[in-house]
Amino acid sequence: MKELNSLLSEKGQTHILQGFDDLTMEEKARFISEIENIDWETVALWKQPEDLSGKGKIEPISGLSLAEIERRREEFFALGAEAIKGGKVACVLLAGGQGTRLGSDAPKGMYDIGLTHPLYIFEMQIRNLLAVCEACGATVPLFIMTSDKNDAATKAFFEAHSCFGYPKEFIRFFRQDMAPSVDFGGKLLLEDRGKLALSPNGNGGWYSSLKRAGADNDFPAIEWYNVYGVDNVLQKSADPVFIGATIASGMNSGAKVVRKTEPHEKVGVLCLEDRRPSVIEYYELTEEMACERGEDGNLAYSFGVILNYLLSAKKLEEIARERIPVHVVKKKIPHLAEDGSFVRPDRENGYKFETLILDMIRLMGSCLPFEVVREREFAPIKNKEGVDSVESARKLLEKNGVTL
Ligand code: UTP
Repeated sequence: MKELNSLLSEKGQTHILQGFDDLTMEEKARFISEIENIDWETVALWKQPEDLSGKGKIEPISGLSLAEIERRREEFFALGAEAIKGGKVACVLLAGGQGTRLGSDAPKGMYDIGLTHPLYIFEMQIRNLLAVCEACGATVPLFIMTSDKNDAATKAFFEAHSCFGYPKEFIRFFRQDMAPSVDFGGKLLLEDRGKLALSPNGNGGWYSSLKRAGADNDFPAIEWYNVYGVDNVLQKSADPVFIGATIASGMNSGAKVVRKTEPHEKVGVLCLEDRRPSVIEYYELTEEMACERGEDGNLAYSFGVILNYLLSAKKLEEIARERIPVHVVKKKIPHLAEDGSFVRPDRENGYKFETLILDMIRLMGSCLPFEVVREREFAPIKNKEGVDSVESARKLLEKNGVTL
């Protein structure tokens, strides 16, 4: 206890011990283990975040256009379907996020987007994947990443809905790691007495968490992981054409991309940074780069990423020890106030520490941008209203013939 005290006092964090003496032995032990797991180097980043702006030489990347994909569709499909049949492809559904912008406490995948009948986000994801399994005559292993916050609720939901018809023996859940959060002055936030306000540490930790959990142990043939976000209800996962095209390209990864609608659209774009693939944020593009056009008249930096990547298992293994940069993100963090009351802030009040899957793309060494039709494959649900909301996603689903 003495050591703990001096560690926290050295870090300027003794406030978290408030009320410690009133905890039960069990609560004390759990809290001490939470404190022992704190990565202080990461926490210190609140004051001096890593410089994450691209430092290398940025150039446009060439990718597969819709026309080219259409021309080679059969060839790509055959290659992708063969890989699926051989058990070489697995899906990783990223569902560990908290969906703070949507403002619901339940896992985002449990959100009901139906109008005349229930239609859950998870259900749409499974439905899309089942269609591929049917077309290829094989079942794709599905790994679902949850977090401490939503693991139990997510599993219970799948159980209650009989996994929406997906063969249970092909589904594995695994939990991602958690990270502490701090207020704007760098003070650790508590969720309760003797409990740090921990939150999922971003989607960049999916591979290490999956491996640590041994989620893939029963599927030794996996050569490719198709990793995607839960909140795009038009997500085409394990798309054989995309898989076949990436395999045919000989690259270590592929990314589904949509063409930007205008130079300043707020979307991360795929490019080359020092000749390696990289995703840069819209605000990192100079005005000149944002408006630059290629010989074909299209924007030179026009491949917007939609969080659907295909990654080689072999390359992932190789880069497993490389460090992924940590992003310090402003968020609304519910916490215990000094007076002991529980606060649910309505505006950002602190920082969370996250690693992002898009930073893995650089480490993969090569990446094939694979263009898809936005209206058919991209209907993200991020916000309650307006852009990328339930309403906009419903419109897109209806356009695609889904009965709501
Ligand atoms: P977002 O960046 O939209 O984050 O996640 P979020 O937590 O879902 O939502 P906000 O920002 O709090 O509103 C993109 C995808 O990555 C997953 C999400 O579940 C979503 O599929 N994700 C995000 C994780 O799996 N773990 C994380 O720690 C963060």
